[in-house]
Amino acid sequence: MNKNSRYTLNDGHQIPVIGFGTWQMPNDESTTKIIEEAIHVGYRHIDTAAIYGNEEAVGQAIKNSPVKREDLFITTKLWNTEHTYAKAKQAIDTSLEKLQLDTIDLYLIHWPNPIDYRENWQEANAQAWKAMEEAVQAGKIKSIGVSNFMPHHLTALLETAQQKPVVNQIYLNPSDAQPEVVKYSQSLDILLEAYSPLGTGEIFKINELQSLAEKYNKSVAQMALRWSLQKGFLPLPKTHTLSRVAENIDVFDFEISMEDMKQMDRLKDQAGQAINPDETTF
Ligand SMILES: NC(=O)c1ccc[n+]([C@@H]2O[C@H](COP(=O)([O-])OP(=O)(O)OC[C@H]3O[C@@H](n4cnc5c(N)ncnc54)[C@H](OP(=O)(O)O)[C@@H]3O)[C@@H](O)[C@H]2O)c1
Repeated sequence: MNKNSRYTLNDGHQIPVIGFGTWQMPNDESTTKIIEEAIHVGYRHIDTAAIYGNEEAVGQAIKNSPVKREDLFITTKLWNTEHTYAKAKQAIDTSLEKLQLDTIDLYLIHWPNPIDYRENWQEANAQAWKAMEEAVQAGKIKSIGVSNFMPHHLTALLETAQQKPVVNQIYLNPSDAQPEVVKYSQSLDILLEAYSPLGTGEIFKINELQSLAEKYNKSVAQMALRWSLQKGFLPLPKTHTLSRVAENIDVFDFEISMEDMKQMDRLKDQAGQAINPDETTF
């Protein structure tokens, strides 16, 4: 595996094995510049969302990039207020426009149970999914998937879905490896994307990880990202610091031993946990 490697999704499309996260990045030139740098050092996959409010800045970086559009992979997500057929259809067009793209590579339902649809989330997701499937037919989106879905959300979606989700993007790092969601998603051939692979910065507080990193002569970030790749996940590290952009993709020249992977598995609950999607306030 190297930085150009790709996983094959269950719909046949390919996806780069590591992506660049953009949550909490402003919609301005600083984000455009950092994404240009990410593409320059070898990232080919950018993860944004309508709610991040930075699709324009991301789109500008894609436009400025010397890398051909077909060699880049762009993900964005449907926000929680838009879970009706008509609203989802409109949200897809709005994202395409803000990103200045003809096609989105991957479009996700961001959360399964928004507060606005708590009484009928199953129907809301089915409606949004229908709009997404039609957008695939129309050539506006290549692949569709979900985020923060637990097994019961997946089961409900599959009752009416024509197409199965290709990914489930969830909170995943050694502090919370979400074994049940992982097992269920994998049983359906749904790829796990690891969001907050560095625990939104919390992972750096784990002393044991620091010692392991020293053993491999790697950074704590590189250890956590390598752990994710060796689990078969697709990590989405975010950084708004220029010097860290290259560090976070420099994870393909070493292997964590099985024993040390197990030690990392035991770091559970030391740097945060996934939130329960059925209890969110948004
Ligand atoms: N689907 C969802 O619901 C969802 C939820 C959360 C996140 N995500 C996606 O997953 C991406 C990553 O998750 P995340 O944003 O929570 O954070 P993360 O990647 O787990 O961690 C980012 C934090 O770690 C710091 N950092 C990054 N690289 C570092 C390094 N090499 N050394 C030291 N510190 C480093 C960053 O600081 P600086 O930026 O200051 O460098 C930032 O504070 C998001 O950006 C987003 O694309 C999706």
